[in-house]
Amino acid sequence: MIPVNEPLLDGMEKKLLIECIETGWISSDGPFVNDFENKFASYLGVDYGIAVCNGTAAIETALYAAGISKDDEVIMPSFTIISCALGVIRLSAIPVLVDVDSETWNMDVSQIESRITAKTKAIMPVHIYGHPVDMDPLLEIAEKYNLIVIEDAAEVHGAEYKNRKCGNLGHISIFSFYANKIITTGEGGMVMTSDSNMAERAKSYRNLCFNPEKRFLHMELGQNYRMTNLQAAIGIAQLSRIEEFIQIKRRLGEYYKKKLSVFDGVKCQVEKPWAKTVYWMYCIELNNSLGINADEVIEKLEESGIGSRPFFQGLHKQPALRKMGLFEDEHYPVTERISDQGLYLPSGLTLKEEKIDLVISSLGAIINKI
Ligand SMILES: Cc1ncc(COP(=O)(O)O)c(C=O)c1O
Repeated sequence: MIPVNEPLLDGMEKKLLIECIETGWISSDGPFVNDFENKFASYLGVDYGIAVCNGTAAIETALYAAGISKDDEVIMPSFTIISCALGVIRLSAIPVLVDVDSETWNMDVSQIESRITAKTKAIMPVHIYGHPVDMDPLLEIAEKYNLIVIEDAAEVHGAEYKNRKCGNLGHISIFSFYANKIITTGEGGMVMTSDSNMAERAKSYRNLCFNPEKRFLHMELGQNYRMTNLQAAIGIAQLSRIEEFIQIKRRLGEYYKKKLSVFDGVKCQVEKPWAKTVYWMYCIELNNSLGINADEVIEKLEESGIGSRPFFQGLHKQPALRKMGLFEDEHYPVTERISDQGLYLPSGLTLKEEKIDLVISSLGAIINKI
């Protein structure tokens, strides 16, 4: 079996985890949490990192920190994970969608302005599959309308937009450290910002909004979204190798791209001249002319012992959100097309070129092109 993903954990992870156990620091009070926050903030070039238990919690915490509340509208892409809409809804605010670009599968920035209303408070660009959103025009719109920019950088550790790191382009951002991410803590996430007020609000929210003056008195409702010292220990070990991991991802990504170029009707995510992608996932979109959809290819790859995964379904197609009366009669054609026709191939850090050759020949046999 070639798994769709596998973390690489053969550095300092074990040693630091043993240290947690030997010292008894296994909860969020341990010293590695602060250390991981400082190191990742400094890697990104921002002033504050607020570690939380996963990326979904990081989104909600960042929205709270940015002051998003009842009936505020937040503009986001239709093609993304439900976590983005979920955070907004948890704060009684409203997700508003735009479609994505057909080459990068990222938010189509040219559609944002038409969705702005008097209630719009923020834009949430989501950097998809390792590739940045075209941020300069988005930041211009945000400035013109005085909107907060909350970057979802869950999938783009180390990716760059015009030589600036994703996650350091807006007012506040989030990362995920789930096991399939470029660096992992098992489950985990972080909110990043250089705004001291937002950082304080994020810290308070992840820790039940404890009153700093009188413990167990709560003026607002927070969450327990704390990261443990165990998770942070793994994070520190992983972060020390981030450049090596990015190099591996880029090398394998380029290799896949070259091999996939022999197929007519198979498209990869386009790396724009202003972008440095980190190829979080090796993704393909199948042209309709092939007469086969992503689910069928995934099933056939599985029969050959190859793991793969479908793309996100559009937020406007999610029954859980439609039931709430959201996105009625809304259509996002690019999202709908890639949700049906997109999949990602084995993408782990432990993958080798010989395995990619096997994936490519199986894929070729399935789509009958070689
Ligand atoms: C774009 C994006 N945002 C947020 C998340 C949520 O992160 P987590 O799985 O850590 O909750 C993910 C998860 O993969 C994601 O892909």
